[in-house]
Amino acid sequence: MKLCIDHADTIQIRRIYENYPIDGVSTNPSILAKCSRPPYEVLREIRDIIGPEGELFVQIISPDEEAALQEADRILKETGEQTLIKVPSTAEGFRIMKRLKTEGIRFIGTAVYTVMQGFLAAKCGAEYVAPYVNRIDNMGLDGVQVSKDIHDAICRNGLDSGLLAASFRNTQQVLELIKYGVKAVTVSPDVIDSFVRNAEVDNAVIRFTRDFEGLCGEGKTMLDC
Ligand code: G3P
Repeated sequence: MKLCIDHADTIQIRRIYENYPIDGVSTNPSILAKCSRPPYEVLREIRDIIGPEGELFVQIISPDEEAALQEADRILKETGEQTLIKVPSTAEGFRIMKRLKTEGIRFIGTAVYTVMQGFLAAKCGAEYVAPYVNRIDNMGLDGVQVSKDIHDAICRNGLDSGLLAASFRNTQQVLELIKYGVKAVTVSPDVIDSFVRNAEVDNAVIRFTRDFEGLCGEGKTMLDC
């Protein structure tokens, strides 16, 4: 399963990349707007941090097929051929997806709130579909269950796609989908940090250090004894 960062702040991205096993970065227009900087400047910096092989997800804006295709070309030129184009899973979006498939451009169906949207995006050839787990929860539905149902619909219909589940507010939502074996999740830095925020773990490590220093002296490590 791939683990990506759903964020565009390059300081945070660099920190999370250094600490955790991360496969890529996803952005959307709202995430880029929070940076208040020119989008391509931010995206090129992200590409430098994650390297040519890192997964980068960038969304097109135009609902018009020809304009969307030009946007996709520009995004790939600016950020590298490995970048995946995010397309909202709407009626106009499916039309754009079918065209991208014909052109051999990798893409992902985003803004997925229902199983049918996810199924249709996968059927259009999306490499990933992105259900918004927490936003679905906030509609009074079960975002984890909708995501599992999309995963099952893709597998049972033999479609060459998988989830890039997004919009998480807590570790439990992510963990449920890790256990289910979905293709990928994309998570904000604060939720990634909460994966291992645990006072018991911190206490165990402090105790190991204290015991070892009791044995060999303050500040000593396995290099000094
Ligand atoms: O990429 C979609 C995702 O960023 C939505 O997350 O946190 O805005 O619900 P959120």
